[in-house]
Amino acid sequence: MKIAIGNDHAAGALKPVIMELLTEMGCEIVNCGPDGTEPIDYPIPAEKVGRMVADHEVDYGVLICGTGIGISMAANKVNGVRAAVCSEPTSARLTREHNNANILAIGARIVSDELAKDIVRTFLTTEYSNGERHERRLALLHEIEKRQ
Ligand code: RB5
Repeated sequence: MKIAIGNDHAAGALKPVIMELLTEMGCEIVNCGPDGTEPIDYPIPAEKVGRMVADHEVDYGVLICGTGIGISMAANKVNGVRAAVCSEPTSARLTREHNNANILAIGARIVSDELAKDIVRTFLTTEYSNGERHERRLALLHEIEKRQ
């Protein structure tokens, strides 16, 4: 599984933890950066990861900022992206099953490292449930994009 990861400066400590987990899970990682502690505006990595996901260059994206909120909002501006902020595994499971989310956003200032790992594991191991009602709703999301 190929994963693009991106973050802002708030993710400094959590990002290596998540990258280690992804490696343990056998994922190929595309690091869209940054790796230093220099402040970076979250829309920049969000767009990079969002475009890779929307262009099917990777299977999923993982984005980390302070809350997960700003970076998910930015990623969701890219057509084809369905980014979800998750702060516990149940939301991570349901957003895969129901929304076929293709980007997981995490708040490094919101969740502990261990909880973040559980969230990532759950997100990446849960399949979309592909039911008729979910397909219909995702098609409606796509219609909104086309009307922009
Ligand atoms: C950066 O200080 C912080 O605003 C950012 O990481 C994120 O939490 C925004 O949503």
